[in-house]
Amino acid sequence: MKALTWHGKADIRCEEVPDPKIEHPQDAIIKVTACAICGSDLHIYGGFIPEMKSGDIVGHETMGEVVEVGSANKKLKVGDRVVVPFTIACGECFFCKNGYYSGCERTNPDHKKASLLWGNYPAGLFGYSHLTGGYAGGQAEYLRVPYADVGPIKVPDSLSDEQVLFLSDIFPTGYMGAEFCNLKGGETVAIWGCGPVGQFAIRSAFLLGAERVIAIDTVPERLELARAAGAETLDFLEVDIYDAIMEKTKGRGADACIDAVGTEADTGSSFMAKIDRIKQATFMGTDRPHVLRQAIHCCRNFGVVSVIGVYGGFLDKIPLGSAINRGLTFRMAQTPVQRYLPKLLQMIEQGKIDPTFVITHIAPLEKGPELYKTFRDKQDGCVKVVLKPGLKEAPSMIKQEPAHA
Ligand SMILES: NC(=O)c1ccc[n+]([C@@H]2O[C@H](COP(=O)([O-])OP(=O)(O)OC[C@H]3O[C@@H](n4cnc5c(N)ncnc54)[C@H](O)[C@@H]3O)[C@@H](O)[C@H]2O)c1
Ligand SMILES: [Zn+2]
Ligand SMILES: [Zn+2]
Repeated sequence: MKALTWHGKADIRCEEVPDPKIEHPQDAIIKVTACAICGSDLHIYGGFIPEMKSGDIVGHETMGEVVEVGSANKKLKVGDRVVVPFTIACGECFFCKNGYYSGCERTNPDHKKASLLWGNYPAGLFGYSHLTGGYAGGQAEYLRVPYADVGPIKVPDSLSDEQVLFLSDIFPTGYMGAEFCNLKGGETVAIWGCGPVGQFAIRSAFLLGAERVIAIDTVPERLELARAAGAETLDFLEVDIYDAIMEKTKGRGADACIDAVGTEADTGSSFMAKIDRIKQATFMGTDRPHVLRQAIHCCRNFGVVSVIGVYGGFLDKIPLGSAINRGLTFRMAQTPVQRYLPKLLQMIEQGKIDPTFVITHIAPLEKGPELYKTFRDKQDGCVKVVLKPGLKEAPSMIKQEPAHA
């Protein structure tokens, strides 16, 4: 089959690899009909995620049609159309039983290195380094889905692939980011990052009762998409973000702050961000936590800092003094996707949200390597890329303007 494989920094290839096989009776194999490129894939592309091996198949936002099921699978049948959560969960351990699927203790068997780095280990993830199980990813023609009777959710034929694909990750992630904010109605939420994850966080914050959303980025079409959802926007290259948020909140700060940027904060965004970049390049630091620092300073006393942007290691100069003295609450996670699926699928069916608003590029799988670069560099108005194996190569790549939903 064809699959996108990692071969080093900025080196993703579309290659022929062996087809996946059923390895365990609970497995299923799906024929991928659509998959997407995520900001988390960009951390791999940028070489910031350790323990990748040359030839690893990447991708963790995937859906398709079941073509084979293992003998112990109780839920899926050949022909079912399913979306696959990026977190692999057993459904039976302490964490899964409590809804913390991304903390599953059974799906990341070779976890010594992860435990050494993080003190303990999280669940296995598709296409995301050998720290999280080294599972083959879903930017491919076929995908082996372990614990297939736990994770995948069947989707109705009345909804298109584009409408349901983001249930695999970015819709639940944005929703979780807003849910962490503990909104009761009427709050002001500041959201850093208007990438696909930030866009879902903005819309989810409004759905959960926020009165105002202040969205921060610098990419014009992403800011425009945020405004289309009703957010006020700030360009971090144009204004001082701290001053602007204090002014907008009469000196109090935002009720909740969501970091939807993570480890690759723009180095142009501050002097500290440049220092972070230098430390990263000289192996003196692992991440660029500029946004997290700003989110802490911009949060009101006893507010919530919700971290959904991914970090990897040991973060420098985090103003914990500000957080303890002002009573902030921190929430963060790799999303326990399974926990959100039924509710969010229902919201799509009821028309409360149409996740297609974020898509700008739809192309065949073979265009993946080129589109990783386009997405990373935010060229060509790119907000979200969907890849469709087998899509007949159109005269030019299919591209749609972001919908002003
Ligand atoms: N927690 C989870 O389970 C989970 C799931 C999916 C993605 N993520 C993470 O969410 C983050 C965002 O993903 P994405 O797909 O939207 O990626 P993306 O790279 O498209 O978006 C990041 C955005 O942040 C903006 N940005 C950079 N520096 C900034 C700054 N200083 N202030 C404000 N904005 C800034 C960029 O311009 C960009 O638009 C990534 O870190 C990704 O790994 C986490
Ligand atoms: Zn993702
Ligand atoms: Zn489990």
